[in-house]
Amino acid sequence: MSDWQGRVAFISGGVSGLGLGIAQAFSDAGMRLALSYRNEDYRASAAAWFAANGREEPLWIKLDVMDRAGWAAAADAVEAHFGEVHVLCNNAGVSVFGDTAEASHADYDWIMGVNFGGVVNGIVAFLPKLKAAQGKRHVVNIASMAAYLSGPQAGIYTASKFAVRGLTESLRYNLVPLGIGCTLVCPALIRTNAWDSAFRRPAEFASSGFGAVDKAQLEQFGSVFQAGMDPHEAGTKIVAGMSAGAGLVFTHPEFAEDFKAIYEDSLAALPDEVAPPERLEVERMRREANKAALAGKAITIDDLS
Ligand code: NAI
Repeated sequence: MSDWQGRVAFISGGVSGLGLGIAQAFSDAGMRLALSYRNEDYRASAAAWFAANGREEPLWIKLDVMDRAGWAAAADAVEAHFGEVHVLCNNAGVSVFGDTAEASHADYDWIMGVNFGGVVNGIVAFLPKLKAAQGKRHVVNIASMAAYLSGPQAGIYTASKFAVRGLTESLRYNLVPLGIGCTLVCPALIRTNAWDSAFRRPAEFASSGFGAVDKAQLEQFGSVFQAGMDPHEAGTKIVAGMSAGAGLVFTHPEFAEDFKAIYEDSLAALPDEVAPPERLEVERMRREANKAALAGKAITIDDLS
């Protein structure tokens, strides 16, 4: 029997694209699901998959991940419906492209607000429920390979995913001592509708510096996503990583060249000089504190002096 049999999971945006693939894989592993949605058509087609495959119908929750009161109500609703809540998966995101040098406040507020603020809101709303529950529990945050790879096309998206990475890697040190797993997921191309986010820009963030959306150009770009990984396959890899207690899941293998360049560029940028022993000692203590946290010790700032 799966480690996850009967555990209760909430997935933001779990009705389409990668979120649905994760929901399918969680369901394959025996989890009971609460899925947030915004779009009724996506909810209906997700419901059809669960019915056609003889799975328990998820609890459906309408939620804008920027709405903090909505998150609090969602966490209470999941608890009221199932009892304990064991798994939080922050998946909802917008994939918006545009020249960072032209970006407006509205561009930053929307993209950071959903991709990073949504994850923050999910953690603040659901962690108290996970802490109050017993047994196997987990937080899964969906970032992207953009959490490592910067480029000219999507700087704010990249910043949001670097932020999700920093938050998730740090949170793991605080959750493991509580007996709660924590996994950062960095996918690359997946066969979803991620490319059409710019068509769904909310009115309150209309004042974009990126210029009018070129429908034909975006649709042409969308065709690239046909080469992407099947979302259910990605979801299955995520469950395997969670079961293995992995802090990091890469779903795609095609990035060795990039990591080699990051490694070489980082080493080359370090000053070629000897560090004083007092500073070496501070960094040694930091590394030891990290290892101790992952071995289950609650770490505070006192462990750095
Ligand atoms: P998608 O566009 O199919 O799904 C995104 C989901 O987020 C949708 O359900 C949408 O309704 C929801 N969403 C957007 N704004 C929201 C808001 N304000 N409140 C609540 N829900 C909101 O795209 P996809 O690809 O499934 O994206 C899922 C996650 O995977 C995102 O975080 C994305 O950044 C990430 N990702 C996707 C990749 C890909 O190639 N498709 C690659 C790397 C990461």
